Amino acid sequence: MNTSPISIYEPVFDQDEIDAVVACMAPDRFNSNRPIEEFEQAFSARCGFGRAIAVGNGSVALHLAMLAAGLGPGDEVIVPALTFVATANAVRYVGATPVFADVDPLTWQMGAQQARPLISKRTRAIVPVHLYGHASPVTELRRLAEEHNLLVIEDCAEALGTTVDGEPAGLHADAAVFSFYKNKTITTGEGGVVLSRHADWHDRMVLLKGQGVPLDRRFWHEVVGYNYRMTNLAAAVGTAQLNKLERFVERKRAILQRYRAALADVLAFQEDIPGSQSSGWLVSAAVPQASQRDPLMAFLGERGIQTRPVFLPLQRFPMYAQGAMPTPNAEAISARGLSLPSWPGLDDAQIDRVSATIKEFFK
Ligand SMILES: Cc1ncc(COP(=O)(O)O)c(C=O)c1O
Repeated sequence: MNTSPISIYEPVFDQDEIDAVVACMAPDRFNSNRPIEEFEQAFSARCGFGRAIAVGNGSVALHLAMLAAGLGPGDEVIVPALTFVATANAVRYVGATPVFADVDPLTWQMGAQQARPLISKRTRAIVPVHLYGHASPVTELRRLAEEHNLLVIEDCAEALGTTVDGEPAGLHADAAVFSFYKNKTITTGEGGVVLSRHADWHDRMVLLKGQGVPLDRRFWHEVVGYNYRMTNLAAAVGTAQLNKLERFVERKRAILQRYRAALADVLAFQEDIPGSQSSGWLVSAAVPQASQRDPLMAFLGERGIQTRPVFLPLQRFPMYAQGAMPTPNAEAISARGLSLPSWPGLDDAQIDRVSATIKEFFK
């Protein structure tokens, strides 16, 4: 039995990242803002919209977006129940209340059908999340937001490379947020970007990210700000990683297709919304019966194959349990879902071994 380990995720680095870090350690570069500016410009160019603001991670990027939106106590923000906890935490950071929407049973995404009934007099914003790199139905969510005069903050942490109607995820949001955590499509170890199409939001987030110091006045703090800056070393890695983005996404999509072709008869894969292309961030699928999920993960684990369960609905956590509405689809997907090895360095033989092992379990 081949039990050589197959990780769920690994970064793909080569000499480019090493060279970029070494060059960044030269004092004149280390002490300048150039690596950050270069990364921000490269990111904006690759993403095709906005002016990127590089920050320490995706969670603080979300916090800055909530602050720029002016959200605070008394405000409600609709977020999907099925997401990483950071999406809801950012709402709480500003004193607002996350309201959890259920998701579609096939795409696993919150759509207008799930969000609409949750709109109240207090609702100020909706946060579409492109779950596992598959596109959220942002066009219908934006239409809903416009009907009710709500802001849209897109959580694109998992969606670098995702497109909706041929356009990059995040393009039409009031603010869009990305993560470069070590398991993301490109990584800087820890890192994030926030973009906004509103010049005043952009300026406010720049001010808040750097301890409230305005660009035109040194040693002066205009507001209570934060140190949410990305490091130069991380930015240097990020610029080198961005040069590989197309290659990574192409490979990740091929990995997703290969799993789907091999396993469509045993697993129900998360589906795409029409007109979208997934980045293939983390290939995720549901087993037929919830009772099979943990045994399957254990079976794979014993054979060296690392997987992880789909997120728990956020109301399951103590800080979000009170008063939350039930979200049965999110519960069912969470109980049945698992994510498979998805990093772009996987070769076809490894994918085939994962698929064959899953088939063996179901035999
Ligand atoms: C959907 C989602 N939102 C936000 C985050 C937070 O990003 P970070 O880990 O960079 O803080 C993550 C990932 O980790 C995520 O998956």
